Amino acid sequence: MASSKQLVAMIRSHAAGDDQRFLSIAEHIAADASKAGHHRMADEIRLLVNSLREEADERRPASRPTLLAAPRGELASLVRASYPETRLSDVVLSEDIHTRLQRIVREHRERVLLADSGLSPRRKILLSGPPGTGKSMTAAAIAGELGLPLFTVLLDGVITKFMGETAAKLRIVFDAMQGARGVYFFDEVDALATRRGAENDIGEARRMLNSFLQFLDEDSSGSLIFAATNHQELLDRAIFRRFEATISYDLPPPDHVRRIVTQRLPQFDLAAIEWAEVTDAAEGLSQADIVAAADDAARDAVLEAGGVLTGDTLVRAVRDRADPVR
Ligand SMILES: Nc1ncnc2c1ncn2[C@@H]1O[C@H](COP(=O)(O)OP(=O)(O)OP(=O)(O)O)[C@@H](O)[C@H]1O
Ligand SMILES: [Mg+2]
Repeated sequence: MASSKQLVAMIRSHAAGDDQRFLSIAEHIAADASKAGHHRMADEIRLLVNSLREEADERRPASRPTLLAAPRGELASLVRASYPETRLSDVVLSEDIHTRLQRIVREHRERVLLADSGLSPRRKILLSGPPGTGKSMTAAAIAGELGLPLFTVLLDGVITKFMGETAAKLRIVFDAMQGARGVYFFDEVDALATRRGAENDIGEARRMLNSFLQFLDEDSSGSLIFAATNHQELLDRAIFRRFEATISYDLPPPDHVRRIVTQRLPQFDLAAIEWAEVTDAAEGLSQADIVAAADDAARDAVLEAGGVLTGDTLVRAVRDRADPVR
């Protein structure tokens, strides 16, 4: 329940026409309600706050980035806020992964309907796979789809060598999840949740892991928690139970290579490209490498061929990325 202090502050901010303060108090009330286990009420308030915010955004389009979340105080050294415009359709994914991610987006869009049946959307998602396959991009796309801020957790700031401090910093991040609904992205989560620490550091690594697990367990915010790793094998097994979905990324199959290039180079006529040559050359490259090769090819086409992109140019660019010291 809202405290009388909160109600007074709310009425004051309304009287003063201070929408931001009004909404931020409402969010605190939602956070308190959710801590007290009143999830329905918390969701209802958050939904109202979100729609009021959207209205306010429409009135003042330029104000959005500063409106919701410019992390302040110590939080500013622990998370970086952004407002991605990325969409799921921008990420080239297998049908299966795309459908799974879409389902998660839908659960959040329809969370009031789910709440009516005593259900809640999945909020804790683990992404694993090699570098450059679209994990960070996916976290951004989910934020973009849901119109939520993306808070990238800066693990360098969170993990300190001082005993106990990491847990305190993690608490600040997890507290923020209650206050500001968003997608919280723990990149390279293996640093936090590895099976064993460095030889001389096992005690502290375990403590860090344990507090992360505990915070994950206790979290009942409306925020989404995405974690990504290149080293799933290093993660402590206890971590997997905390996540409600695990999604594995991989290097792109040939048809993805083609989709990525086509998507990246809409300004060029690619009708004459022999795709088999391109995809052969792309063997072993990541999605990020393909994007970079496409950009290289585009530059060559503009500077050396009057804006015409030939198959040879594209294949050469891909080969250069595959074997940069060639
Ligand atoms: N599946 C994809 N579809 C389209 N573009 C992609 C995809 N994966 C990667 N890219 C391109 O590569 C860039 C880097 O990818 P991203 O940062 O998402 O990789 P990552 O899996 O998070 O890698 P890392 O493990 O190194 O953090 C993206 O910004 C995007 O331009
Ligand atoms: Mg990444």
